[in-house]
Amino acid sequence: MGEKRDDSTDGWQRREVAKAALGVGGVSAALALAAPATGLTKVLSRAFTGEVYTEGTYLVDENGERIRPTALEFGEQITVFPETHPGVEDAPTLLVRYEESAYGSPTELAFTVNGYAAYSKVCTHAGCMVSETEDDGTFVCPCHFAKFDPTKGAEVTGGPAPRALPQLPITLSSDGFLMATENFEGPIGPGGE
Ligand code: FES
Repeated sequence: MGEKRDDSTDGWQRREVAKAALGVGGVSAALALAAPATGLTKVLSRAFTGEVYTEGTYLVDENGERIRPTALEFGEQITVFPETHPGVEDAPTLLVRYEESAYGSPTELAFTVNGYAAYSKVCTHAGCMVSETEDDGTFVCPCHFAKFDPTKGAEVTGGPAPRALPQLPITLSSDGFLMATENFEGPIGPGGE
């Protein structure tokens, strides 16, 4: 299955590590000192339940460009962000695209559009960024190797994560871009059960 290289991850991590060190963003954060596969990896120390997306928030790529429904082929994925939201504007989100028929429970199909589904990128185990992907599209967290199935609601399929990555309800805006219809359907990061 094809995979679109996500060049934003390292740059995002560098920016977020710098922000964490400065205490910017209002999100409690600490640095991961041992992230075997990726080096520096931001860690959220607790679940974040504040609003990241609200109704009508556009999804944007690492360059701030809004996402057209033709952005990804089926089987590809990228990291996207809420266009504007003070304090947590860089909150990372995994955007994937599959044929509608590829999705199964507990994916909330009402939260998908044109084959796109979106999930928080923050691991529910200890808050590292879920920045790796296996050939079959499975998300892998590089810190302790939790695995999540993006076609089944990002449910846990391996490793120590206690719960799925929360899904973001998305739709198409009237001007033809992907946007959120509300915030993530659960808390971001570790804890929050
Ligand atoms: S932080 Fe992701 S598996 Fe531990």
